[in-house]
Amino acid sequence: MIENYNKIEIKIIMGDDCMAKNHKDISMAVIRRLPKYHRYLKELLDREVYRISSKELSLMMGFTASQIRQDLNNFGGFGQQGYGYNVEELYKEIQKILGLTTNYNTVIIGSGNLGQAIANYTNFQRFGFKLMALFDTNPKLIGMKIRDVPIFDIDELQEFIDENKIDIGIICTPKEFAQDIANKLTKAGVSAIWNFAPIDLKVPEDVIIENVHLSDSLFILSYLLSNQEE
Ligand code: NAI
Repeated sequence: MIENYNKIEIKIIMGDDCMAKNHKDISMAVIRRLPKYHRYLKELLDREVYRISSKELSLMMGFTASQIRQDLNNFGGFGQQGYGYNVEELYKEIQKILGLTTNYNTVIIGSGNLGQAIANYTNFQRFGFKLMALFDTNPKLIGMKIRDVPIFDIDELQEFIDENKIDIGIICTPKEFAQDIANKLTKAGVSAIWNFAPIDLKVPEDVIIENVHLSDSLFILSYLLSNQEE
């Protein structure tokens, strides 16, 4: 009896537009693990693997099987006893939760080494992040193009954002200028900032900031290396 009830529930949960409980209820700890699920599931799909158990996924990803079951339970009934997970459904749902089914327009501020490296990385575009322009103060860079995307004078930022719907500002300037850039971006109406400058930026409450510090990861590596040597 209970078995049948579960089957009915799974069918209902797996209906097209009722995959998950409200995505806003999912904890940030789980959300931070989703890109890794997304990456592994994509790899499985590329290898034409359409079904996987939590145990197999756990061996691949280095999470425990129970962690995987707990995480994936958050957003729908993709796992069935004896069947495992439907890789494609799960991949699509995680894409949806991560907002990767939407397209975003981005600009890069600071077109030096890092700004150009990000601009040259074409993979972001594949996931819907379209680079519309770069900005800088250096006259030698202004007027150049990176992959056909122009570098403009920073003084043109406001006008450019007024004319183009920009969702994400990517800050790649030295840290002394980063707060001023964040102010300019938010004043112009950009509501999400991907910040690479090593500084904690102050922004209005409704603006989202995601900081990236490669050095954090490098220092963890250094810690592990120095402890291994001991
Ligand atoms: P870079 O010196 O090659 O490039 C910085 C660019 O910003 C230059 O082209 C400069 O003309 C421009 N710039 C300066 N003031 C500006 C302003 N007010 N408006 C617009 N553009 C302006 O430096 P790099 O190596 O590209 O580093 C950029 C930033 O990224 C630095 O803050 C650095 O600390 C940070 N960084 C962060 C990493 C991370 O993991 N988060 C990794 C590497 C760098």
